[in-house]
Amino acid sequence: VPATATPPAQLLLLGTGTVGSAFVARWQQLARQGWRLPRLAALANSRSALACGDDIAEALQTARQWSPVACREEAVAAGFAGLNELLQANNIVVDATASDAVAACHADWLARGVHVVTANKLGNGADLLRAQAIARARRETGACYGDAATVGAGLPLLRTIRALVAGGDRIHAIEGVLSGSLAWLFDRFDGERRFSGCVRTACAAGYTEPDPRLDLSGEDVRRKLLILARAAGLALETHEVQVESLLPSALSVADITEVDAALIALDAPLRQRYRNALRDGARLRFIGHVETGIGAGHRASVGLRALPADHPLCGGRGTDNRVAIHSDRYRTQPLVIQGPGAGAEVTAAALIDDVLRITSA
Ligand SMILES: NC(=O)c1ccc[n+]([C@@H]2O[C@H](COP(=O)([O-])OP(=O)(O)OC[C@H]3O[C@@H](n4cnc5c(N)ncnc54)[C@H](OP(=O)(O)O)[C@@H]3O)[C@@H](O)[C@H]2O)c1
Repeated sequence: VPATATPPAQLLLLGTGTVGSAFVARWQQLARQGWRLPRLAALANSRSALACGDDIAEALQTARQWSPVACREEAVAAGFAGLNELLQANNIVVDATASDAVAACHADWLARGVHVVTANKLGNGADLLRAQAIARARRETGACYGDAATVGAGLPLLRTIRALVAGGDRIHAIEGVLSGSLAWLFDRFDGERRFSGCVRTACAAGYTEPDPRLDLSGEDVRRKLLILARAAGLALETHEVQVESLLPSALSVADITEVDAALIALDAPLRQRYRNALRDGARLRFIGHVETGIGAGHRASVGLRALPADHPLCGGRGTDNRVAIHSDRYRTQPLVIQGPGAGAEVTAAALIDDVLRITSA
């Protein structure tokens, strides 16, 4: 190998929770099937970091079991110093955290030529300035930003929107059921059973965040809508998305220990919304909607809508995501993309797709 050849990419995994663990499981499965994968060199969580040997599963287990008390300061410092060595051009960081501090580093890493693959929505789905810094750093260094896992857990949404724009199409509007947990809740809710009971069932099945208010507030959908809109070329600010939260005030102010009891505050208003929709022959769906407003300003909103039963966003079952894209090309009928868009396994698969796209480029 000539001395000047670029060394093979190494990979650093941040986050050893639900998605990080699913990532390692799929990584091992692909390795067993003979896929050529870059070396998974290190993993880290909020407590410490370690270099992986050949046994990645063992490294994951060690990292998951770190007790904050047992992580002596020197060990933590040594672990994080090791990470810094990996943050060099051509290597890949996989962000499987929900950390704002980690997302705030994405642009810096890209500027150093490090590729970033992320399930964390706080890169392109938070402040516009941060999203613009990410885009600028990519352009300047040619490093890749793999964000397929951030919306629709790898459904071909972002890449379709970017391909349409790159082909000269103008996106007029994007609307969609973007939250797997809210899709499941409104698929299941029949106006008879209590909505609070549906939320409890969804929590127990792992469809919602541990604190379901994060889903019910609409904030997660706001971030996904921002990511889609910005992929369509719209410089949309966070505050420009009008979000209608489902949380009654009694639930939004409840202490975390009182959330379960406070869920009943959802029942009466949602039963009424359901009945009103039924009377009009409509169905309730939690929708993110952005109109790119060519020549007329843009509008973006997130909230519960009563849609005609034959509306393209009323199809699908369970936690399916559904997104309709209206553009010059798809003027009469929108392009509709639908499929399972939630869960750790599909999210991890989307992360690995992005890693392989980078290493095989
Ligand atoms: N769960 C899903 O089905 C799903 C689906 C799609 C997208 N996502 C997204 O994927 C991401 C991860 O979700 P998750 O469900 O796996 O969350 P999780 O189980 O809570 O795991 C988060 C991991 O991030 C680590 N972390 C937090 N701050 C960190 C920091 N500053 N540096 C390094 N590591 C840090 C945590 O460390 P500790 O272990 O020390 O706490 C933990 O290991 C989130 O952005 C989420 O929105 C999740």
